[in-house]
Amino acid sequence: MNSQIHSVPVPLGSRAYSVLVGAGILPQLGRLASELETPLGKRCAVITDSNVAPLYSETVLVSLSAAGYTPTLIPVPAGEASKNMKVAEQVCEEMIAAGLDRSSWVVALGGGVVGDLAGFVAAIYYRGIPFVQIPTTVISQVDSAVGGKTGVNTAHGKNLIGAFHQPRLVLADVVTLQSLPPREFNEGFGEIIKHAAIRDRSLLEPLATPNLQFEPATLAHVIRRNVEIKAAIVAGDEHETLGLRALLNFGHTIGHGIENAAGYGRYLHGEAVSLGLVAAARLSVAKAGLAPEECQLLLDALARFDLPMRLPDDISTERLMAALLKDKKFAQGQVRFVLCPRLGEAYLSKEVTLEEISQSVEALR
Ligand SMILES: NC(=O)c1ccc[n+]([C@@H]2O[C@H](COP(=O)([O-])OP(=O)(O)OC[C@H]3O[C@@H](n4cnc5c(N)ncnc54)[C@H](O)[C@@H]3O)[C@@H](O)[C@H]2O)c1
Ligand SMILES: [Zn+2]
Repeated sequence: MNSQIHSVPVPLGSRAYSVLVGAGILPQLGRLASELETPLGKRCAVITDSNVAPLYSETVLVSLSAAGYTPTLIPVPAGEASKNMKVAEQVCEEMIAAGLDRSSWVVALGGGVVGDLAGFVAAIYYRGIPFVQIPTTVISQVDSAVGGKTGVNTAHGKNLIGAFHQPRLVLADVVTLQSLPPREFNEGFGEIIKHAAIRDRSLLEPLATPNLQFEPATLAHVIRRNVEIKAAIVAGDEHETLGLRALLNFGHTIGHGIENAAGYGRYLHGEAVSLGLVAAARLSVAKAGLAPEECQLLLDALARFDLPMRLPDDISTERLMAALLKDKKFAQGQVRFVLCPRLGEAYLSKEVTLEEISQSVEALR
């Protein structure tokens, strides 16, 4: 019970909440939920996936029951394929059958897939009920669990149906990250290195160090700092209308193009972002005056996590550029590209041409 809990506030007025970060804090979920200022109802649905359920659902159910809640476990098959309307509807039906109503709430226990799906279910169930996020992947702890974007995919594309729905509480226990396969663990550092590049240079230096040991306390520090960065950006631009939240797209314009051109599933998101970061960092040297040694520090950090930095020849630049032009960020025909003039800073530029983007992709080979 003496595990330290760092609380990061997400100041969103009436929708404000805290992200609690610590090592070994999962068993405290029930108590922490019961201490929320606006009390949660007695009944809740614990939505999780088939990989996470055997690892952590018991701890979650025991903790909730001990605090006086009545949880119903609803597992869905692991993987992106579960993030769709059909599964969302099935989950809602199970919740109705279990007697959950407008006074109930949802726990999202898992990675970004579960977080987006369960958050979406919470946003639409009885026109919206509270939810608590328990992210168990690096990506979900530093990115998807903070910010209130929820949603599902359609045959036409990812995240096309959804809602902004902020959680009441986020509980990020870094010990859960120990069971991640190495590739999924490393992938998350694509986003962490992105956060460092746009907001905190001091985070990057240790990440580029060859023998960094991930003790739980070190990991908790890194996750907490990333949550602070994401929370500050979200608080300044909750609904992505002011341009601030767009800075989180550093490395993502080209990254999304690569994900799409490679065929979904070949690269994990953070791996495609790594390639996008390499291109965006080099463009930042050329267009924004980023010092070459700063660019190298960023590349060293990516290499440290075995993230891809070279684009294979079978992923053609033409296909990638075609995919990129379909991206919603280019909808108005104007390229808005995130550049990093110094590590720790970023801005949205209109000065990067499609030709320059295409050249930066070629330079990845
Ligand atoms: N809402 C947002 O702002 C936002 C931001 C970024 C990404 N996303 C979404 O997040 C999703 C990707 O998230 P993800 O990378 O966490 O994927 P994921 O949820 O599919 O998790 C990756 C894999 O790890 C398994 N897993 C999860 N936690 C584990 C643990 N602790 N130990 C062992 N295995 C575990 C999962 O079952 C899955 O197989 C995408 O759908 C993406 O669109 C949303
Ligand atoms: Zn991302």
